[in-house]
Amino acid sequence: MTTWNLKGTKHHVLICNGSSCMRKGGEEATQAIRHEIANLELDSLIHTTRTRCNGRCKDAPVAIIYPEGTWYKNVTPEIGSKIVREHLSGKGHLQEHIIYQYGSEGFIQTENTDCIAGVSKSEKNRV
Ligand code: FES
Repeated sequence: MTTWNLKGTKHHVLICNGSSCMRKGGEEATQAIRHEIANLELDSLIHTTRTRCNGRCKDAPVAIIYPEGTWYKNVTPEIGSKIVREHLSGKGHLQEHIIYQYGSEGFIQTENTDCIAGVSKSEKNRV
């Protein structure tokens, strides 16, 4: 096991490796993201972590970028590489692939999203 010194890291990419995401190409997306980070020599600025399910299986494969709080859906290897080349390189977000964006009101779904809303946590807690 490795213990990284994360001082100076600018972004943390959580790549979902839960079962739904893995069935839809999560491994290939993970490899593409990591390959593009290495290719652009951004290893010291971007830390990646494989996670279990993030609770948005309908949007699989999912990748989440912090500190921005940007959730990406349907992350194919091509989209994963593009996330690194554009979002993580400071050239802008991939709007058409965003599920949620964190802001002053918490997470909001982007306009024009075709993602399902999902189960409301506040309604679920009343049952
Ligand atoms: S397995 Fe990835 S969001 Fe559920």
